[in-house]
Amino acid sequence: MKTYKIAAIPADGIGPEVIAAGLQALEALQRRDGGFMLDVTTFDWGSERYRKTGAMMPEDGTAQLKAFDAIFFGAVGAPDVPDHITLWGLRLPICQGFDQYANVRPTRILPGIVSPLADVGLGDLDWVIVRENSEGEYSGHGGRAHKGLPEEVGTEVSIFTRVGVTRIMRYAFRLAQSRPRKFLTVVTKSNAQRFGMVMWDEIAAEVSKEFPDVTWDKMLVDAMTVRMVKNPRSLDTIVATNLHADILSDLAGALAGSLGVAPTANIDPERRYPSMFEPIHGSAFDITGKGIANPVATFWTAAQMLEHLGEPAAAKRLMRAVEKVCADGVMTPDVGGSANTREVTEAVCEAIRAENI
Ligand code: IPM
Ligand code: MG
Repeated sequence: MKTYKIAAIPADGIGPEVIAAGLQALEALQRRDGGFMLDVTTFDWGSERYRKTGAMMPEDGTAQLKAFDAIFFGAVGAPDVPDHITLWGLRLPICQGFDQYANVRPTRILPGIVSPLADVGLGDLDWVIVRENSEGEYSGHGGRAHKGLPEEVGTEVSIFTRVGVTRIMRYAFRLAQSRPRKFLTVVTKSNAQRFGMVMWDEIAAEVSKEFPDVTWDKMLVDAMTVRMVKNPRSLDTIVATNLHADILSDLAGALAGSLGVAPTANIDPERRYPSMFEPIHGSAFDITGKGIANPVATFWTAAQMLEHLGEPAAAKRLMRAVEKVCADGVMTPDVGGSANTREVTEAVCEAIRAENI
């Protein structure tokens, strides 16, 4: 039997609640499937550790994670610790240290969930956003001079490399090719930004020649927000820079009914390092400890993890269970339900056990 080593990092806010729910569903799947095992190690890294020791994770944190097949991540962010510390202290060193350059964010309106665009007749909104995850606006390149003085300056430089853009473009074209519509939209801002963004457009045109069966078009990011709302059926696979895709994926999540259902996978497509799977929603301090966090995004990202590990049947089984439970109306308040995290999780585990496919 195959055993996969999983590093669980629940971290902050509702992270521990949703990761516990995700692990419970994964446990039910292992039993139901019988073909694989997950060997889970949980790490207590996060803001609590930062308060005690001054560091979100140990110095050799990424070295410790290297031995794992995948990382199952909750959320970072705490009201009393600056966001750039929590982020650059844990999540970004893992993404960038393990060169998880493809961030994959599927969107779909799950049964039973009502989209704010329900009246537009938008179908099931089946999109995948591919976010460049290693450079661009998140390169951490910049600085501040003359701090606190009237002449203070701050720079935040975006870095776009030919290697970085080419590899994410290939990933996105390949993903588009694997989907029924074989259609990719390349998002930039190459009217106002004349260098890196124009290079994106040029590389998209070059890489497209390797994928003659994929149709593609280009959008400026501002116009893209309008197209997502007004003409959602015209989109399928989308590729954009680190920051543009960050923003567009929040919009996609909202259009699908709630950020509480939106998953993300931070993938090293070359499989040199473990990839990392997490819900998009973040630590959500307003509802932490209330037991009402929506575990669906974490279930969905657990399905992405199983897919990546080579267990597509278990991944599909998990998504079928989630869809059944949503369709039955067992949902948390963020998507209009009255169930809590435990009830949704138990219903999903029950649906996994009961499935006879
Ligand atoms: C996301 C989040 C993060 C990001 C935040 C927490 C910095 O918004 O995963 O989309 O921008 O990458
Ligand atoms: Mg975001």
